[in-house]
Amino acid sequence: MSLLRVFVALSIPAPLQEAIQRETAGLQQRLGRRLVRWVAPENVHLTLKFLGEISRANVDLLIEALRREAGEHPAFEMTVGGLGVFPNPRRPRVVWIGLQAPPALDALQHAIEAAAARLGYPEEERPFSPHLTIGRVSQHASGSDQQRIRQAIEATTVGALGTAAIRSVELYRSDLRPEGPLYTRLHSAALRPPTT
Ligand code: 2AM
Repeated sequence: MSLLRVFVALSIPAPLQEAIQRETAGLQQRLGRRLVRWVAPENVHLTLKFLGEISRANVDLLIEALRREAGEHPAFEMTVGGLGVFPNPRRPRVVWIGLQAPPALDALQHAIEAAAARLGYPEEERPFSPHLTIGRVSQHASGSDQQRIRQAIEATTVGALGTAAIRSVELYRSDLRPEGPLYTRLHSAALRPPTT
């Protein structure tokens, strides 16, 4: 049985992806590519639910569920900006750009999490903390590497970069390759149009 590695995400408009790249180019240059695997600008997205490897039959069920949930949740806008690391500055693993979104984002994520649970996918135990991953720190980073990363992050300011109008939820397939993942959109589920 062939399995697809998939995740549900919100896509980020290209001008914002480019702004993120522009604003973090100095940081990326300063830290280099050995210590941090930087996400290609066109791959920057907001993950709502990572499913992992699933069958094609379940992809169809998931699309059906996404369609239903998206149709019941309103479109919204979110502002992108700010820079930080997970889990904490002394032990940076993920470098992210932040966002500010209305409660509609949380409600949408919870609904998708619940729909995936009904299909048998385990619920994420950690609370949802929306972020745009722009870099993943190497497993081999030493204590002094981590300190370098912390200092470089502290020396970088990323203000508000712009607003994204979120009108749909996407299902992506992820193919892992040595040169970096290839994301392919499998489905786009329209959110309910905002009431004016
Ligand atoms: P992240 O941005 O917080 O790293 C596609 O791989 C997306 O799924 C990534 O953006 C990643 O979120 C998320 N994801 C969550 N759990 C994952 C896992 N176990 N393996 C890979 N990606 C995962």
